[in-house]
Amino acid sequence: MSLRLGDVAPNFKAKTTAGEIDFYEYLGDGWGILLSHPADFTPVCTTELGKTALLQEEFAKRNTKVLALSVDELDKHHDWVNDINETQSVIVGFPIIADEDKSIAHMYGMIHPNASENFTVRSLFIIGPDKKVKLTITYPASTGRNFVEVLRVLDSLQLTASHSVATPANWTHGEDVIVVPSISTEAAIEKFPKGVKVVKPYLRYTPHPTK
Ligand code: BEZ
Repeated sequence: MSLRLGDVAPNFKAKTTAGEIDFYEYLGDGWGILLSHPADFTPVCTTELGKTALLQEEFAKRNTKVLALSVDELDKHHDWVNDINETQSVIVGFPIIADEDKSIAHMYGMIHPNASENFTVRSLFIIGPDKKVKLTITYPASTGRNFVEVLRVLDSLQLTASHSVATPANWTHGEDVIVVPSISTEAAIEKFPKGVKVVKPYLRYTPHPTK
């Protein structure tokens, strides 16, 4: 069975382009993004890892470590990273796991046999400091993911983890947020000194708490 939101992300040891790693040690006390792609030297994957590399600083600012995975071997990963760096004008600074025996792919439900018996689909997990799964997304091999959206969700997750708010549709960092239903309007007015706009008793906005 695949991992669901709130499940503990299982630990593992892996061979990666940055050497052997223990997943939990690699994450430390911060956040993590674990993403799989179908294969090395494929066009969509090349652009995906390029876009991820472009956002490395943004992920680091959010105390978030990235770890990619495919079932190809390590030598191939190293050669492919050179291609990604060259074609996408980046320096890939995060490790890529060589999951040749597919043990991690199976543990995380990254192989969807009715899509492909042999290759991982485009799975992505955001893992919180408590090592629990906060986001899962699954895309088919033919569609590259949007890493700006991944960053947007990370911003929402980090904000909602530390304040009693939720984020509305299409929200981006800095915009007004929603007061969660468990807080009364009276309590919200006390809690959010920047103000509370009551549109309906169940739909209340407050300015971004830390902007
Ligand atoms: C790609 O990454 O370009 C790709 C991989 C597998 C199937 C289709 C596209």
